[in-house]
Amino acid sequence: MEIRNICCIGAGYVGGPTMAVIANYCPNIQVNVVDINPERIDQWNDDDFSKLPIFEPGLAEIVKKCRGVNLHFSNEMENQIKKADMIFISVNTPTKVKGIGAGQAIDLKYVEASSREIAKYSEGFTIVVEKSTLPVKTAQTIKDILDAESKSKEKFTEKNFAVLSNPEFLAEGTAINDLNNPDRILIGGDNKEAIDSLVRIYTNWVDKSKVLTTDLWSSELSKLIANAFLAQRISSINTISALCEATGANIKDVALAVGMDKRIGKYFLNSGPGFGGSCFKKDISNLVYISNHYGLSEVAEYWQKVLDINLWQQKRFVELIVKQMFGTISSKKIAILGFAFKSNTNDTRESPAIYICRKLIEEGAILNIYDPKVSQNQINKDLKGCKEDLNVPNNNKKWTFSNSLYETFNDTDAAIFMTEWEEFQNLDWSTISPKMRKPAWIFDTRSIIKKNVIKKYGINIWQVGSGS
Ligand code: UDX
Ligand code: ADP
Repeated sequence: MEIRNICCIGAGYVGGPTMAVIANYCPNIQVNVVDINPERIDQWNDDDFSKLPIFEPGLAEIVKKCRGVNLHFSNEMENQIKKADMIFISVNTPTKVKGIGAGQAIDLKYVEASSREIAKYSEGFTIVVEKSTLPVKTAQTIKDILDAESKSKEKFTEKNFAVLSNPEFLAEGTAINDLNNPDRILIGGDNKEAIDSLVRIYTNWVDKSKVLTTDLWSSELSKLIANAFLAQRISSINTISALCEATGANIKDVALAVGMDKRIGKYFLNSGPGFGGSCFKKDISNLVYISNHYGLSEVAEYWQKVLDINLWQQKRFVELIVKQMFGTISSKKIAILGFAFKSNTNDTRESPAIYICRKLIEEGAILNIYDPKVSQNQINKDLKGCKEDLNVPNNNKKWTFSNSLYETFNDTDAAIFMTEWEEFQNLDWSTISPKMRKPAWIFDTRSIIKKNVIKKYGINIWQVGSGS
């Protein structure tokens, strides 16, 4: 089956970049990205390419080239679903906040709503592709909704579907590079014609040897497990960062020595403030939930520990910051460098900066926050409802937003590096030092600052995995 029209439901961090790259490599396919959020669609259609809703290196260039040619963003759900030969579901899949499985299970309401829209509007044979990371057996839910519609006798138009799982492994900040050069393309399903159609799209730029086809459930589970293994490595290295600080060893040397073993590998061994992002916490919580559901409590406890360590790392950072600053940060000004959950993205979902900033504000600190890509509006949402220390007089400004990297340090007692943005790595400390009140502290949660340079300016420094 030749695919001429693709529709993607969900213009977010996954749908947007993925469709842009497909459009770029497949000029004969019209790619229509639809979303229920009109503001988001307006941003994708903005003439000023710096205003796209997502910042990803290389993304704006592709959108500039393809938008209006074979890449389109709109709210026209009905029309685009009708025309599509293939529909990707790339909607958000948050953790449930209430009811059965609250805090662990994934809320499938957006996936369900998308499936119902497809069931309602599609015409003829349509291939439906799960792109979002989903709990195992979600494809069955989608199939059930679609089948109910195709079997409905009242309908005049004939319709039938094939459901495929095609999880996306891109990481934010490197999305375009990951999409251009994927380690593998995973396609799960049981309809050979549908699988072949999707394989043909990817082999426009990906070598066939990298395309792996499996059954639906193995594909869904593999994505969850890949994320769990990555997160587990981060929690592992973070436990060792604490041990290094206690013993005087250096985490960077330990990670290098350990990672040089080919069986272990060098990637994902950077200790830091814990993993953030929309996937890891959500996916492991779901893994814990599924394991418990199948009565595998030891499996659930094992993976729960990966989450516990992640939060523990953030808690211990807050405690040591307060301890180093003479046991109180009440009314002290602290610069926060970086708010995104990692560099090269404007995404703050589950960012460790949120937890740490909230705790510091509760302790009475006044924060000055700078991030090269995160907006003041987003930080406002993330820190909303934060309880300040009511004992601090006139503390009606719990945090301020800084537009200038160097001004962020003005009159501060300490600066905390939360995100590993490149621009933080070679700062001019002769300019910064006079701006800070002495004794001044730098807390480097990513180990990106050169310790010996800082020390020349009489500033104290603590780094993850090597201490002060
Ligand atoms: C992750 C997976 O990498 C990707 O394959 C999947 O599709 C989605 O989830 P993402 O969350 O975008 O991608 O970014 P990733 O690079 O994996 O980083 C996740 C978190 O781990 C970040 O907070 C990052 O700072 C942290 N991290 C990563 C570390 O603390 N140390 C490391 O060595 C690597
Ligand atoms: P991800 O990181 O998984 O891409 P995002 O939250 O960035 O998640 O994007 C998901 C997008 O899906 C959002 O822009 C949201 O408005 C959109 N969305 C959710 N439900 C629907 C729906 N039923 N129809 C169309 N778009 C939807």
